[in-house]
Amino acid sequence: MLEIQFDPLPTAGDFFARCVTSIPPAGRHSSLLRIILKTGKKRLLFILNKLPASKAAASALVLALGALLGACGAPETTTQIGVYSGRHYNTDKELYTRFTEATGIQVKLLEAKDDALIERLNTEGENSPADVLILADVARLDRAAGMNLFQTVDSDALNQAVPSDLRDSSGRWFGLTRRLRAPMFNADLVSAEQVSSYEALADPSLKGKLCLRNRRSVYNQSLVAFMLDEQGQGATEDWIKGMVNNLAEPVFSSDTPMIRAVAQGQCAVALANSYYLGRMQAGDKGEADQNLAGKVTVRWPDPVHVNITGGGVTRASRNPEAAQRLLEFLSSDQAQGGYAAANHEYPLMGIGEDPVLQAWGPFQQAKVSAERLGELNAQAIELMAANGWQ
Ligand SMILES: [Fe+2]
Repeated sequence: MLEIQFDPLPTAGDFFARCVTSIPPAGRHSSLLRIILKTGKKRLLFILNKLPASKAAASALVLALGALLGACGAPETTTQIGVYSGRHYNTDKELYTRFTEATGIQVKLLEAKDDALIERLNTEGENSPADVLILADVARLDRAAGMNLFQTVDSDALNQAVPSDLRDSSGRWFGLTRRLRAPMFNADLVSAEQVSSYEALADPSLKGKLCLRNRRSVYNQSLVAFMLDEQGQGATEDWIKGMVNNLAEPVFSSDTPMIRAVAQGQCAVALANSYYLGRMQAGDKGEADQNLAGKVTVRWPDPVHVNITGGGVTRASRNPEAAQRLLEFLSSDQAQGGYAAANHEYPLMGIGEDPVLQAWGPFQQAKVSAERLGELNAQAIELMAANGWQ
């Protein structure tokens, strides 16, 4: 994007040019022609004492300006940031390409499992090539923040785009998409009323009908943290014990097989993340899974536990400004739809355009902040272990 302003008209003499980060007041040059060339946040202030006398001189001037701007703006177009991401969806890559087109900032992407990325960044320390770390689940974001892997970011754009309960209060990480963990049930086996709340899943009437993922899952840890915040320790312990008593099968190690088990009747209800059912219902995982997922209904408790994927600027970043711009881009209206829909997640606000999510209808989001869930993670893990959640 090139922007040229003429302000005010020139008198006489030569010209000079310099790179500036902000445009100084006209001051002593007020009677000269000031041309400000802008690319991204780089600016070239060009002061011309007289207008070109001929077309040839004007062409030469334009060429000279181009060269000067190149010299001034070059660092912007060759800036590269490293992104470590626990997300792994093709549409994410398209968004990074759009970001590069809009800003000139190249993205070098490393995708791996979230926990491996945290370990890697920690081991690499100050030498890490990562400028941005993107992770699934607030428990992991909180852990990375606790390990001092992020630096604080103060961005009006981010503070506006990301609701305050979905970001760290000191600006170390920011939510980028939302996912809900909720009961998913087989309507042939239980009624919607029987699974209308998280508490209901501990009711003895569901004995032998419930399926759960293991307690190592950060998704479950964050859900228990949410219950701790809502109900306190005693009620949360009773809830865990009740659910463990209701188990139909040994705990699962991932959500998708558990949703299949609901469809096939091995369990009547399971607690799973919304996007796993979304992928299956949309047909992303093939026709067989799509058919199975058609037998599974999601039921939103009131309120529903919301978790996030999110990211922050790494402490090791050598380009924190460029890294911040990527987070601002991912949280912006233009990127939000695509970023969330890639994985059938919810954007930061609203339901978005995804037809699968629209079919599930509106929900009441819990008021607890993501940061608070991170704080309660250790206590949640302890309670799960102490009360028989394998
Ligand atoms: Fe997941």
